[in-house]
Amino acid sequence: MKRVLITGSAGHIGRVLREGLKSRYPLIRLADIAAQAPAQAGEEIVKVDITDPAQLAHAMEGIDCVVHLAGIADEDTWERIHRMNIEGCYNVFEAARVAGVKRVIFASSNHAVGFHRRDRMIDDQVTPRPDSRYGVSKVFGEAVGRLYADKYGLSVACLRIGSFRPDDKPTAPRHLYTWISHRDTVQLVQRAIDHPDYHFVVAYGVSNNARNRWDNSNARLLGYRPQDDAERYASEIVSTGAQEDEREALFHGGFGCLVEFAGTVEEID
Ligand SMILES: NC(=O)c1ccc[n+]([C@@H]2O[C@H](COP(=O)([O-])OP(=O)(O)OC[C@H]3O[C@@H](n4cnc5c(N)ncnc54)[C@H](O)[C@@H]3O)[C@@H](O)[C@H]2O)c1
Repeated sequence: MKRVLITGSAGHIGRVLREGLKSRYPLIRLADIAAQAPAQAGEEIVKVDITDPAQLAHAMEGIDCVVHLAGIADEDTWERIHRMNIEGCYNVFEAARVAGVKRVIFASSNHAVGFHRRDRMIDDQVTPRPDSRYGVSKVFGEAVGRLYADKYGLSVACLRIGSFRPDDKPTAPRHLYTWISHRDTVQLVQRAIDHPDYHFVVAYGVSNNARNRWDNSNARLLGYRPQDDAERYASEIVSTGAQEDEREALFHGGFGCLVEFAGTVEEID
């Protein structure tokens, strides 16, 4: 995996990957619709809108591995989710297939399985239980990834990222379960790029948190050995008096479950 394309490289995670993966590969092509800092050695900057297949086709030329981050990173209107995270995501996989790219690493989310109860550990085999339109789009991305692995032989990793914080610090009670540090994020993506051989894998993007509730055996198989633990910040978080809503605390997706919530908590097993 020598030539890597990162979509959404101007975003929070993209900028951390850009820095963390610098000089590790002969080429990192950084694709975003937004402006980016000028290219350094081993980098190329391309302005790409993932809703435009022609622009994507151009961006994929000569690429071995795509790290697909671009899109809407939170709950939003169906129109925006549909355009960026459904159509845009499909366009990325399809452009990768047509260009002969070997591997796609998809930034999925814990919100794809958010309505599973937190008192149960979950692994990569649990059924999808999206907690939002955003979560639905991540289930969709994982399904497209599965299709493109099985039908077209792409190697695909779906990383269900927990809570990546721009300031690299967990600040809310839920983060004690879900946080991933910057250096662990870089390590996980690097392992997913470098691993010599996998067909399709779902792994959780989470640090080595004492309160982790996700069975991350697959990330371990990729060689991921997280270095950080949100517990280090526990007393700081407690001292702010911040408390998780008790209904949010029932579910892996936390706050994502309660946005627009009009259901009955007891009915969600
Ligand atoms: N941050 C987290 O905790 C977290 C958790 C789970 C999953 N993720 C996923 O990881 C990815 C990156 O997250 P982030 O926090 O860096 O988000 P971000 O919003 O900071 O970055 C997203 C990037 O995508 C770009 N983008 C948006 N629409 C585009 C388009 N049409 N064409 C090209 N580029 C476009 C934006 O310009 C932006 O730079 C997202 O897919 C998000 O859903 C993030």
